[in-house]
Amino acid sequence: MSAPRLEIDLGSIHDNARTLVGMLACRGISVTGITKATSGSPEIARTLLRAGMTGLGDSRIENIETMRQAHVRASMTLIRTPMLSQVDRVVKHADVSFNTELDVISKLSSAGRKTNRTHGIVLMVELGDLREGIMPGDLENTVRETLRFPNIAIRGIGANLACYNGVAPDARKMSELSRLVDSIEAKFALSMDIVSGGNSANLDWVRSGTDLGRINNLRLGESILLGVEALNRQPVDGLRTDAITLVAEVIESKVKPSQPWGVIAQTAFGERPPAADRGKISQAVLAIGHQDTDPLGLDPPAGIKILGASSDHLVVEAAGSGLTVGAELTFQLNYSALLRAMTSPFIAKVMKIRSGPHPALNSPFNHLDSFPTTAPPSAPFAISGCPPYTVSKTAAVKSGHSGSSVRTINGGR
Ligand SMILES: Cc1ncc(COP(=O)(O)O)c(C=O)c1O
Repeated sequence: MSAPRLEIDLGSIHDNARTLVGMLACRGISVTGITKATSGSPEIARTLLRAGMTGLGDSRIENIETMRQAHVRASMTLIRTPMLSQVDRVVKHADVSFNTELDVISKLSSAGRKTNRTHGIVLMVELGDLREGIMPGDLENTVRETLRFPNIAIRGIGANLACYNGVAPDARKMSELSRLVDSIEAKFALSMDIVSGGNSANLDWVRSGTDLGRINNLRLGESILLGVEALNRQPVDGLRTDAITLVAEVIESKVKPSQPWGVIAQTAFGERPPAADRGKISQAVLAIGHQDTDPLGLDPPAGIKILGASSDHLVVEAAGSGLTVGAELTFQLNYSALLRAMTSPFIAKVMKIRSGPHPALNSPFNHLDSFPTTAPPSAPFAISGCPPYTVSKTAAVKSGHSGSSVRTINGGR
């Protein structure tokens, strides 16, 4: 099989998605499945919908178009404020978009009028993470102006935290969002369908058992794909953390000194910390690098240590007698490594089913293979009754990887 490749287990993604849908449904929260880290893969999109996601969201209109062209049937939301240059495509392909600028909403309205479509808007509010969002004090005026635009329907209010400055979506922030929703509804005699509180970083807040106020939707990507919450990257009980793995091939394997020799200047990627002298080591080079993924976001198998990377080469140290040329190594990935690998044309994407037959196999879209069957994740899917959900300090469902069982590598969204 070709390498490097991402092995994507649709069965595990389905189980993760279903577990999260179940957990959140019993607290009155619907889930929008975020497909941006999958480049809008129709296979994965269908898997999320089968697991009970109420809609799909993506930050790129191109990915939404990909899913539409593949006849994925779902409500689709553009979760990044549209570019003025893309408003026609947004109105044509997305049912809803997240918005913070009246100029953009005005152009969406014109695009809607031209094509006789009504476009849904979720107004995003700034709660302190300082990426997108209308300042709370400006929200009332933005709603007033937005209501004047024809072919625009305000569908809801949302917020996004933890992506840019790492500000946690805690009870205080979420109460602030609920209060804003209440006050806008009262002022304008509106009823908001969607109050979208955030992303995989909100799972701790849900788990804290606090009153969830008006929040009735979360947008989840990372927790479904990687099985971790996004504040501290801790595994979520009942979710698989190995639904997606990266396989790379060894192209050189030699015993070499652990320290470089000669006059040391910059590397292809700037400075590099000096290597400690550990005598001779078994070093291997794999055919993957910065051009394909984020090497810092790779978690190697037991007995392998990542020493560094350049554009096309990943250098590792192997315990014992080393690796053979042609051997394949399987890595787990953080979000940053996954995002880059998914968008790299040099990395094959192989959809697999590890935990028994799965309806997603019916689609002809991707090359499909089969894994040996292993035990499915432990958490049952339950909508009636609220299963206790904990973020554990030990691995959820994971095997065979090095280091502690807790993933600590951060990967920004
Ligand atoms: C606005 C918005 N919502 C939701 C998400 C999904 O976040 P996560 O992958 O942490 O669930 C993202 C991620 O990029 C985002 O930008």
